[in-house]
Amino acid sequence: MTTTLITNIGSLVTNDPTLGEGPLGLIKDAALVLEDEKVSWAGPAAQAPAADQAVDAAGRAVIPGFVDSHSHLVFAGDRTAEFNARMSGQPYKAGGIRTTVAATRAATDAELSANVAKYMWEALRQGTTTFETKSGYGLTVEDEARALRIAAEHTDEVTYLGAHIVSPDYADDPAAYVKLVTGEMLDACAPYARWVDVFCEKGAFDGDQARAILKAGQAKGLQARVHANQLTYGPGVQLAVELDAASADHCTHLTDADIDALAQGDTVATLLPGAEFSTRAEWPDARRLIDVGVTVALSTDCNPGSSFTSSMPFCIALAVRDMLMTPDEAIWSATAGGAAALRRTDVGRLSVGARADLVVLDAPSHVHLAYRPGVPLVAEVWRKGVRTV
Ligand code: NIG
Ligand code: FE
Repeated sequence: MTTTLITNIGSLVTNDPTLGEGPLGLIKDAALVLEDEKVSWAGPAAQAPAADQAVDAAGRAVIPGFVDSHSHLVFAGDRTAEFNARMSGQPYKAGGIRTTVAATRAATDAELSANVAKYMWEALRQGTTTFETKSGYGLTVEDEARALRIAAEHTDEVTYLGAHIVSPDYADDPAAYVKLVTGEMLDACAPYARWVDVFCEKGAFDGDQARAILKAGQAKGLQARVHANQLTYGPGVQLAVELDAASADHCTHLTDADIDALAQGDTVATLLPGAEFSTRAEWPDARRLIDVGVTVALSTDCNPGSSFTSSMPFCIALAVRDMLMTPDEAIWSATAGGAAALRRTDVGRLSVGARADLVVLDAPSHVHLAYRPGVPLVAEVWRKGVRTV
């Protein structure tokens, strides 16, 4: 056992309101003690216990590592031309997914794995210490199982998204594709995954299809999360609450009834401002969700189509500027909120027993993540008690 004292922390976000000020549990002039992979003490520096080794944070801010609870990293190729066309006025359409499906099917295992590693490293350098990632660009039994096997080499938070769109091979018979996704494909994919997801949207899967897919996944022991209400109003959010999904993701087009359902259920609303940025869509109403007590998470949705960013700091800045979240709310949502969306209590906080995943910012306060957008403020990243960046 080795203990490490990180002291002279100018301001520490613990996300434990019992330890400090406000929902962030903010402590000024703080210290942390790490014992192997975990936090064993957090509090004012003046009261810190001795440890085997000491590190001086030089007055900088420390926050929990970001929890990115929504990404699509198992893919090949990119969609630069589609992005360019969009920025010249073309609308975003889910059909662009097919371009990435073709490129992904054609890639080798090694190419796909190298891609996942590359984008996870890119995210880690920007402070992300917990990653969820999905399949969804294979859409055959073999290609979806392969995507999940590769994802599982890189993270424990793996999501089966065979129901991303109806496979082009089943364009004339969507019901047969739903049967495949809930049958043979699910059997092949479930051993690698913790979660089942569906893109519940016009042009993808309707409410009845989505319910059948999520329930089949749950019957196999997977937990549900849903791509809901991204491009249009629809049944996704209420279905997510009905099935006790951990998270309804996107939540861009919400009715009063959708917001009521979220407020009454345990489903987190995961907002993905990189997608609104990159598709020039309207912003989700984060303010209203938070004001009625919905738990809100922020994630990147990193994928080559609708949101090709791996940067949680960028998403925080967008959330503050364009979704009217306060800096404190955005930092909470990108850490504790992401943990809630993955139903995890071991990450997204820096209090006793938590995994020692933390970010040292080149700034005196976490607020600088929104105040100084686009500036590389992530100075150090510690994961499981080890400095990795
Ligand atoms: O979350 N909404 C569906 N899936 C992705 C986009 C995938 C793509 O365009 O390749 C999303 O935005
Ligand atoms: Fe997504």
